[in-house]
Amino acid sequence: MTQSQTTSAGSAIPRRTALASLGLGAASLGGLSTAFAVDHHGNRNGDPKMSPEMVGWDPSDGRYVLPPLPYRYDDLEPHIDAETMRLHHSVHHASYVRGLNTALQQLKEVREGDRDSDQVRAITRDLAFNGAGHFLHVLFWNTMSPSGGGKPDGELAEKIKVDFGSFDKFTAHYKAAAGQVQGSGWAILSYEPTSAQLVIHIAEKHQDFLLPGAVPLLPIDVWEHAYYLKYQNRRGEYIDAFMKVINWDFVSRHYVGVRDLLEVHA
Ligand SMILES: [Fe+2]
Repeated sequence: MTQSQTTSAGSAIPRRTALASLGLGAASLGGLSTAFAVDHHGNRNGDPKMSPEMVGWDPSDGRYVLPPLPYRYDDLEPHIDAETMRLHHSVHHASYVRGLNTALQQLKEVREGDRDSDQVRAITRDLAFNGAGHFLHVLFWNTMSPSGGGKPDGELAEKIKVDFGSFDKFTAHYKAAAGQVQGSGWAILSYEPTSAQLVIHIAEKHQDFLLPGAVPLLPIDVWEHAYYLKYQNRRGEYIDAFMKVINWDFVSRHYVGVRDLLEVHA
């Protein structure tokens, strides 16, 4: 499925999302399908370094894949320890990739009459859980860097100031949201294109309480598998550590790319 969108400057942006190529709309996973827009050449948001494999999709095989991390497992030390990164990426994220591919295969089997259609509800729940888990983790890895931390600059910095009052107010709100997630889940800074505003929201598990249409820019994983080895029950310390590895350059470019791609009014 190939789509195009006309920008305010009148130029058409070809876009092909990983999910769209499987015929799944944005609403099915709360807008996450637009988190990584990949054009005809496999470039993400005009960045030639981001291949489909880097965003977790193998177009040659037509399946989701576990993308490589943009750094080594021990590169985020001492903030995020290497063993947590290894397990988190190679075990937990990998399971979501398998679950997503399995759910899609099982739904295909239902359509072809090889599986009882009574299973659609249960399989679709698996699709939402594993799909949201996959897309959030792909974004999560890219929003961290060994040289991260500090503050954003440029257009994102200005947008945060307009929408939240200041970077400090944003930080306090974001950390509170992450700290107050009940059980396993995420706090997410997203771009909501209808109002053209940034919003902080929470996802329980991966898929519950997402905001359809809002595109994640900066998710923090507060499942215990993200921090328990090093921080045990001290989630607040982990949240502080995450703030020190945020790749604001990536988040800023992602914000500009998503904003321009999804512009809905002048
Ligand atoms: Fe996770």
